[in-house]
Amino acid sequence: MTFAVPRRSRRRIAWAAVAVSAVGVALFSAATYLTGDPTLSRIPLNPGIALHYLTIVLHALPASLVLLIGPFQFAQQLRARRPKLHRVLGRVYVVSMIFAAVAALVAATFSVDGISSQIAFYLLSVAWLYTLYRGYTFIRQGQIQLHRIWMIRNYALSFAAVVLRGFLGIGAAMQGIFPTLSFADIYTTSAWGSITICVVVAEYFVLNRTIAPLVRKRQPGERAGIPS
Ligand code: HEM
Repeated sequence: MTFAVPRRSRRRIAWAAVAVSAVGVALFSAATYLTGDPTLSRIPLNPGIALHYLTIVLHALPASLVLLIGPFQFAQQLRARRPKLHRVLGRVYVVSMIFAAVAALVAATFSVDGISSQIAFYLLSVAWLYTLYRGYTFIRQGQIQLHRIWMIRNYALSFAAVVLRGFLGIGAAMQGIFPTLSFADIYTTSAWGSITICVVVAEYFVLNRTIAPLVRKRQPGERAGIPS
C-alpha cells in the first residue's frame, strides 16, 4: 500500500522546512554578530584590515533580517489576508538586502579565504541585487507573476547562506576523517556548492510551479498531447 502525500501538504512541509532552517540560521548569526566581539567571528579575520569585522557585522545583521522575512513573504494565506503587511515587510526586505549586499562586496574584498570564494561572493552579491531589482520593478508595474518569479530567484540566493552553513558543518565533520582539509578548501567548495544547488532548485520551482501552469493554460491542445 502506498501513501500519496497531497500536493498542498507537500508544499506546506517544504515551506516549514525552509522557514525553520532560515529562521534558525538567521537568529544564530544575528546573536553572534550582535555581540560586537571580533573574537567570536566564525570566519578568519584579515589581520591587516581593522574594518573587516565591521563589514561582516554590517552584512550579517541585515542579511539575517532578509532570511527571517523571506519565508513569510511566500506564505500565500498571509499575503491574501494581510496585503499591507506583505508590502511593509517587502520594503524592509529590499532596504536590508541593499545594505547586506553592499557590505558583502566590501567583506569579500577583505576575505582571507582565497580568490575562488571571493569571486563566488562577488557574483552572488551582484545576482542578489539584480534579482531584487527585477522583482521590485515588476511589482511596481503590477506584473505579479513576474514579480513572483524574480523573488523566488532572489530568495533562493539568500537561502544559499543556509545551505552554505550546512555544508560547512559537513566539512568540519570531514576534517576528522581527512585532517589535511583546510578551512579555505571547505569554505570555497561550500560557497560554490550552495550557490549551484539553490539556483537549480529555484529554476525548478520557477519552471514547474509558475511557468508550466501558465503555458498549459495558454495552449490547452498541448496538455492533451496535441502538437500546436
Ligand atoms: C546571498 C548573498 C550573500 C552574499 C553575497 C554573502 C557574502 C558574504 C561574504 C563576502 C562574507 C564574508 C566572507 C569572508 O570575509 O571571508 C559573508 C559572511 C557572512 N554572511 Fe553572508 N552573504 C550572503 C547572504 C547571507 C545571508 C542571507 C546571511 C544570513 C544569515 C548571511 C550571513 C553571513 C554571516 C553571519 C557571515 C559571517 C560568517 C559566519 O559567521 O558564518 N549572508 N557573507
